[in-house]
Amino acid sequence: MFTPNLLEGQVAIVTGGGTGLGLAIAKRLGELGARIVIGSRKAANLEAGSAELRHAGLDPLAVQVDVRNPEQVDELVQRTIRHFGHIDILINNAAGNFICRAEDLSPNGWNAVVGIVLNGSFYCSRAVGRHMIERGKGGSIVSILANYVWTGSPGTIHSAAAKAGVMSMTQTLAVEWARHKIRVNAVAPGPIESPGAARQLWNTQEAVDRITNMVPLKRWGQPSEVADAVAFLVSPASSFITGEILTIDGGAWLGRGTFAFIE
Ligand code: HXC
Ligand code: NAP
Repeated sequence: MFTPNLLEGQVAIVTGGGTGLGLAIAKRLGELGARIVIGSRKAANLEAGSAELRHAGLDPLAVQVDVRNPEQVDELVQRTIRHFGHIDILINNAAGNFICRAEDLSPNGWNAVVGIVLNGSFYCSRAVGRHMIERGKGGSIVSILANYVWTGSPGTIHSAAAKAGVMSMTQTLAVEWARHKIRVNAVAPGPIESPGAARQLWNTQEAVDRITNMVPLKRWGQPSEVADAVAFLVSPASSFITGEILTIDGGAWLGRGTFAFIE
């Protein structure tokens, strides 16, 4: 689908790039020629992710960072520039999530998730955007949302509100930074196989089966399918697309019509 070396000479930061979807995205962008930086909190995730990327023939820079901390985010950006010289691509992928009824959710629980997803995506976009504006060569930002930006999400009010906030930020920055040739887009995945999400959100077979049944295509997505969509959005193949939210969910959120049950 993509020509090799499509992203040759470009540098990409992937937050949460040591695990799950972030790792698949880092690998895909690296296979297309980009130099890769992964950033997250836990050294173990960064080490395991780096090992997998090296196994794929890449030479990533791994940086420990909590995206809730704007100073640490600025340091991630400075270290990337010192190491690779510039930044062309930012993938806002880091996230936190857990299931909790709204009435039981503590302010700290709310702040933990909103801090990672909404504040973290803003701090990273702001720090990388400033560099892209100063450099004057444009760039591309893609944020990983979830398909419940279209519906709300009973059980994960913190994540749904934060992802909807990042969607609005995507649409806002797409216009504000268009004059700097920075394209800003997002993807909104439905259920995708990933150990990190499974631990937090669907840790029983019953939950997995129920979710599979809600997807018109009757299967889960693979991290590589999200990675391909992200690769498209950062590549010249999408050069006139900005402010777009691409849903990747096997039809899940649309399959909610009154008569959606008919065979
Ligand atoms: C209720 C919970 C909770 C739970 C944590 N809290 N887990 N409350 N139910 N299951 C509360 C704590 O009690 C605390 O509040 C507050 O949240 C902060 O908890 P900490 O453990 O101190 O937070 P922290 O170490 O910062 O960890 C952040 C985290 C954690 C979000 C809570 O789960 C995390 O690190 N997750 C990262 C990985 C992850 O979530 N991946 C899944 C992404 S999948 P109090 O009041 O007690 O102090 C995804 C897919 C969605 O987003 C789309 C599906 C379609
Ligand atoms: P995951 O493996 O748990 O990914 C979350 C990543 O975020 C981890 O690498 C984690 O690394 C990092 N992270 C968490 N808090 C952080 C912080 N404060 N600072 C920096 N990094 C932090 O789960 P995943 O399923 O791959 O999720 C990846 C993205 O896809 C998320 O945005 C998620 O909302 C989205 N998504 C997933 C699904 C799905 O079905 N799997 C569906 C829709 C959307 P550390 O713990 O090392 O910090």
